[in-house]
Amino acid sequence: MKITKAKQSHIEAIISIDHVAAQDEKRRQDIYEWVPGGNTIVAIVDGAVVGYAVLEYTFFSQGFIAMLIVAEASRRKGVGTALISHIEDICKTEKLFTSTNESNKPMQALMQSMSYEPSGVVHNLDEGDPELFYFKKL
Ligand SMILES: CC(C)(COP(=O)(O)OP(=O)(O)OC[C@H]1O[C@@H](n2cnc3c(N)ncnc32)[C@H](O)[C@@H]1OP(=O)(O)O)[C@@H](O)C(=O)NCCC(=O)NCCS
Repeated sequence: MKITKAKQSHIEAIISIDHVAAQDEKRRQDIYEWVPGGNTIVAIVDGAVVGYAVLEYTFFSQGFIAMLIVAEASRRKGVGTALISHIEDICKTEKLFTSTNESNKPMQALMQSMSYEPSGVVHNLDEGDPELFYFKKL
């Protein structure tokens, strides 16, 4: 598996593995902005994009994993772990945050497996599905 900075030529592959992008124009627009912004990484296996992640610094100027998606067929093979590990290596702040819905048990399990600490809950973003924040001191 290779983890590398996403290029313009990866955009269509990123969209094709992102189940939300298939139906959501706003997500596709985000991807078109994230990639040239230089803050997107991709995981590549046998020449194919199998996952991507986005690191931003817009959350109180701290590193924040704004997006992490692994292609359905490539899950539970360490791709999510590899993407987050790479972000931990390149993150410019000492603190790294991310968040996920309370309903997202796979992401919570991944956070636990990578020793992230719970860092608070924000209600009222998604109706009836609070946002759980996580933190790691790098
Ligand atoms: C959450 C997600 C990124 C995890 O990626 P992944 O590549 O499958 O994760 P990994 O293979 O690195 O998993 C590492 C560990 O996390 C835990 N884990 C990950 N997915 C899990 C699941 N579905 N159930 C239970 N534990 C899970 C396990 O401890 C796993 O280790 P193991 O496979 O040796 O048991 C992936 O499920 C995904 O893309 N989901 C849809 C998008 C999403 O929810 N993104 C989160 C951002 S809000």
